[in-house]
Amino acid sequence: MLLEVRDLNTYYGASHVLQGISLTVNSGEIVALLGRNGMGKSTTLKSIMGLSKARSGSVVFEGRDITGHPPYQVARWGIGYVPEERRIFPNLSVLDNLFLGVKHGKKAGAGDPEPWTVERFFHHFPRLEARAQQKGRFLSGGEQQMLTIGRSLMGNPRLLLVDEPTEGLAPLLVREVRDILAEINKAGVSILLVEHNLKVAMSLADRLYLMGKAHIGFSGSIEDLKANPQAREKYLEV
Ligand SMILES: Nc1ncnc2c1ncn2[C@@H]1O[C@H](COP(=O)(O)OP(=O)(O)OP(=O)(O)O)[C@@H](O)[C@H]1O
Ligand SMILES: [Mg+2]
Repeated sequence: MLLEVRDLNTYYGASHVLQGISLTVNSGEIVALLGRNGMGKSTTLKSIMGLSKARSGSVVFEGRDITGHPPYQVARWGIGYVPEERRIFPNLSVLDNLFLGVKHGKKAGAGDPEPWTVERFFHHFPRLEARAQQKGRFLSGGEQQMLTIGRSLMGNPRLLLVDEPTEGLAPLLVREVRDILAEINKAGVSILLVEHNLKVAMSLADRLYLMGKAHIGFSGSIEDLKANPQAREKYLEV
């Protein structure tokens, strides 16, 4: 098992926003975490990454207990994080934005998969290669999203936590971002994906978790979810 989250409890002040979240990601998988607004999806990713402090519970990554460690340390251990709000540097070029990501991750070691380089990144994201010298702020929303994903890849993560990558994108770009995530996964990166677009999630994920308020209400395969309209209605459809 690559990632095991067990019984996480996280608070914002007095509000208990994660009440015993448990989930797993196996090596090579794409696992989707879905649910309505405000259920705690982003907080789950932040709690794994060490950006929100879990009060109890544990996060084990590649057999190492990483609970409560700071984000930069978690990144060095091999977890990349693509936040909901795209955090590119508007006044830096695409290339410099990518180089910034190189510093944050871990150095590739013997036995690790092929390291990500700027060249390799551009091979997967030709749309950004054409704009390598352009400043971040001139990129479209979708291109900024790709750049954020690319920057986190520069740290050579074995697991990528991706929060709503297709939010607000036009259909064509939704498909491009979807395809890129599939390619990254094929290249050996496991993914925990928070997604509001059910079609995208179902087309990518090996397994799904659906969140109700502060808890996981359903977990299973795509087939399990298709066979369970009650779960879809309870946790997804408005
Ligand atoms: N920094 C914060 N301080 C206080 N409360 C917060 C903070 N961040 C989130 N919350 C609250 O915690 C709960 C869970 O938020 P979270 O962002 O994890 O939900 P989400 O499932 O990602 O929602 P969305 O689909 O809207 O992104 C919500 O009630 C939210 O209002
Ligand atoms: Mg969120």
